[in-house]
Amino acid sequence: MITPHTAQFNMLGSTIRDRSLDDYDVEIFPSCQSEVVDLLGDVVPNASSMVELLRGLSPAAEDKPLHWVDMAGGLAVALREASILRTQNILGEITLTNVDLFDWREELAGDLKALSAEMGMDLGNKAHEPQFIQDNAETVVLEEPADLITSVQGIQYFDDPLRALVNWYNQLNGDGLMVVARASHWWPREISQRSQSDETEPFAALFSQFEEHGIRYATGDAASSFIPEEVTDFEVLAIQKQAETRLQLNAALMQVVAGFSWKVVQYDDAKPAIEVVRT
Ligand SMILES: C[S@@+](CC[C@H](N)C(=O)[O-])C[C@H]1O[C@@H](n2cnc3c(N)ncnc32)[C@H](O)[C@@H]1O
Repeated sequence: MITPHTAQFNMLGSTIRDRSLDDYDVEIFPSCQSEVVDLLGDVVPNASSMVELLRGLSPAAEDKPLHWVDMAGGLAVALREASILRTQNILGEITLTNVDLFDWREELAGDLKALSAEMGMDLGNKAHEPQFIQDNAETVVLEEPADLITSVQGIQYFDDPLRALVNWYNQLNGDGLMVVARASHWWPREISQRSQSDETEPFAALFSQFEEHGIRYATGDAASSFIPEEVTDFEVLAIQKQAETRLQLNAALMQVVAGFSWKVVQYDDAKPAIEVVRT
């Protein structure tokens, strides 16, 4: 059982925790040209929404349902919708898992009811409850690996976001996909490495390792036409796992400073902060 950290709980209590699949589309699929859309549309031809992505993704084994894990999923509205769409045969067989540090179901029961009425969907129906793992998404160990891991508007609250990225990659199936999005905020800017004399960012080295090992990834902005010039200027990160690779976190967490609605995190200067390892 997790002991809720009061400050963390209070910080999260004022956030939106009931985004729908449409809201996830806004976060993940930009309205403009984007490398993220190119990558996702390549994995699932022309996918430009969560529903299209979920319809087109293949499970790791033919006899298994697709496993979608939403990290920091809040009230899991998007997952509940996916469950309803499965019963309407819009989606195929799918296992749905929400990982969140807090169980918001009691506190947000009224919101779920209101949203159900607004969307004309019985989101509160027990039959559409995803599996819920109450745990820290940075370190959670899934019972089954995932075909798709998403995390929307969560990573900016994490104390150890690099650990989360590594943990998620390592729990994807063979060529599984992960998408991390936080619209309206270039969250990688808050993640740095510090030596006595210097402050650097960890992503350029990570991306050059991805390139070296042929791991497909893409970065982009959520809903603007702005093309980032700095490595750290992106809102969405999509990565497709390459079988027989895993990530290893080399950098140690040094400092976490909580701001109004995100955390500024510093690691030591171990290089590369995250390393691709062949298994
Ligand atoms: C802004 S809400 C977003 C929820 C959902 N993705 C959505 O968009 O509706 C952020 C969520 O992150 C969760 N969270 C924060 N830190 C976490 C952690 N270390 N592990 C798991 N969940 C975490 C919070 O409890 C909260 O539900």
